[in-house]
Amino acid sequence: MPHLLHIQSSPRPQRSASIEVAQAFIGAWTSRHPQATVDTLDVWATPLPAFDGEALGAKYAALEGHERSAEQLKVWADIEALGQRFHRADLIVISVPMWNFGIPYRLKHLIDAVSQKDLLFTFDERGLLGLLGGRKAVVVAARGVALGENFPAAEFDHQTSYLTMWARMVGITEVHTVSVEKTLFGPEADTASRAQAKAEATALAASL
Ligand SMILES: Cc1cc2nc3c(=O)[nH]c(=O)nc-3n(C[C@H](O)[C@H](O)[C@H](O)COP(=O)(O)O)c2cc1C
Repeated sequence: MPHLLHIQSSPRPQRSASIEVAQAFIGAWTSRHPQATVDTLDVWATPLPAFDGEALGAKYAALEGHERSAEQLKVWADIEALGQRFHRADLIVISVPMWNFGIPYRLKHLIDAVSQKDLLFTFDERGLLGLLGGRKAVVVAARGVALGENFPAAEFDHQTSYLTMWARMVGITEVHTVSVEKTLFGPEADTASRAQAKAEATALAASL
């Protein structure tokens, strides 16, 4: 039975363009896969372990071949539980607002907490091996402005480019992107942009 993980990173769920478009995708995808299950991970509502102190100690204890303390084991169990939510998914949908041309810090916090050796990737002297191979990802990216003329993507897109790189780091090579732009240019432009992105997301769902 296919399983979808939706990582939601807008802190305004009622008005969010990225969540609205992601929900259009998920609605279309689940109607094609009626047996599918969906797990929603809202990064603002989910407790994320601070990555200092015990968590950092637990990471380096394993990397340096030391035993973990009881406190370190406890925090690591929380990190592994988050990681298992990624492993359970066949399809990972990330809905993401652009913040300062990058991603919201809370999504980066999730990524930093969960992207651990032997959980989402491994490495040796030959290189890096992602452990989420075979999965697909869809990034639904909202932006107040449009990338392009004034903000060339090559310089200004640290949102989808970062998440695509991260997906590759953990072994996901099939990444689709749907953008919803100009959400800050008044209700008309916002509505039109959402409608266009939802149509694109629905068409994409038909192919996945
Ligand atoms: C802290 C913050 C920083 C933002 N930075 C950018 C930015 O760099 N570029 C941009 O196009 N829009 C920026 N925006 C606007 C949001 O990307 C836009 O409102 C988008 O629709 C938010 O996604 P959401 O509707 O899913 O919450 C920013 C908004 C906030 C709150």
